[in-house]
Amino acid sequence: MTDQLSPVDRAKYAAAVCAADMVENGMRVGLGTGSTAAWMVRRLGHRVREEGLRMTGVPTSARTAELARQVGIEVVSLDDARWLDLTIDGADEFDPDLALIKGGGGALLQEKIVATASDQMVVITDAAKEVHHLGAFPLPVEVIPFGWKASKALIEEVLATLDVMGTRSSLRMDGDRPFITDEGNYILDLALGRIGNARQLSLVLNQVPGVVENGLFIDICDMVLIGHPDGRVERRDMTTGKVSAETVEIEGGENAFRDI
Ligand code: 5RP
Repeated sequence: MTDQLSPVDRAKYAAAVCAADMVENGMRVGLGTGSTAAWMVRRLGHRVREEGLRMTGVPTSARTAELARQVGIEVVSLDDARWLDLTIDGADEFDPDLALIKGGGGALLQEKIVATASDQMVVITDAAKEVHHLGAFPLPVEVIPFGWKASKALIEEVLATLDVMGTRSSLRMDGDRPFITDEGNYILDLALGRIGNARQLSLVLNQVPGVVENGLFIDICDMVLIGHPDGRVERRDMTTGKVSAETVEIEGGENAFRDI
């Protein structure tokens, strides 16, 4: 299976396996959304089935919940779990301080709530998502459908006063209809080019009426695992300041998910 993967998917797979192997018996784990997180969920399912790993998962989207159940992970709500030991999720961009842009998959709201209800957030990614300054990836902002055009106009007005390169935003579409989040909201993607002050931007965006949450994750991520196509994974731990490397067996992973 894994030998048919593209180099980017091999890198994502390596990071995902490394993160899933951090999970210990009895842990309550936030399960992210996206293609990298899906590898991690599959790996956890494999560990539950093959190693008897005991854990519960709190998914960050309906599609992650479905996958988690499918692979044999016990799924509970955040309200039932109350607090999590660890959340593992992907990202669209990360900077040297491990500030993130998330929401490319449209799940930023649940992802942010789950990550901030965790002792630790670990991001799994390939190397291409590392940037000096956030903003090349369009920043997702979740808005309620009521009056979304007014919210969009206000956001663009406010952006003109901030340290960003671009101010245009677009409604995310799903075919010829607006994309709808799991919470029934819309997503505006902000083409900012470069974000000068992510902390200020995040605070200001969340003041705009109609904005539910934005995709900037600041001071939330504790560790990033950067996968490479050859199976190498670089681990950067913000808490300890330590950087280390390990290697994941990619070829040997071929049989891992055969029974899914
Ligand atoms: C979903 C997200 C994802 O984590 C992000 O888009 C990365 O996705 P992928 O792992 O598929 O590259 O934020 O809302």
